[in-house]
Amino acid sequence: MVLSDCKVLELPKFLDERGNLSFVEQLNHIPFEIKRTYWLYDVPGGECRGGHAYKDNQELIIALSGSFDVVLNDGTEKKVFHLNRSYYGLYVPKGIWREMENFSTNSLALVLSSTKYDESDYIYDYDEFVKLKCDGKI
Ligand code: TYD
Repeated sequence: MVLSDCKVLELPKFLDERGNLSFVEQLNHIPFEIKRTYWLYDVPGGECRGGHAYKDNQELIIALSGSFDVVLNDGTEKKVFHLNRSYYGLYVPKGIWREMENFSTNSLALVLSSTKYDESDYIYDYDEFVKLKCDGKI
């Protein structure tokens, strides 16, 4: 997968005087079944998360509250996605290096994942990631 496969998806939203509502359905708004959900919260100012790629896992990242940047890199080029609305989700396919940074105070990042947690699916070494990309293995 390459950077052009990474997309900000606009999710449905029902604007209402009583408060707004958004939702996401697997295989409808996103191209995968959701096997796991996790969230990042209480991230201290200046901290970064991520710093890895997945061999198989795909994700949708939503800024449920506050804002942060997701830096995506396919081994050739890099792009920064600023997320700050709860009705946008960033789709990240497998085989993309990613970092998350510039978390605002009280931000909440919700992540929908296509696989259960599997440590062996992670690539933590950037040079190894680039080599696997060059060899067409991920
Ligand atoms: P990690 O994925 O490295 O966090 P991030 O990419 O957001 O910086 O995960 C941090 C720790 O949490 C790691 O020890 C594994 C654990 N973890 C789980 O047990 N289950 C999960 O679903 C996730 C995402 C992480």
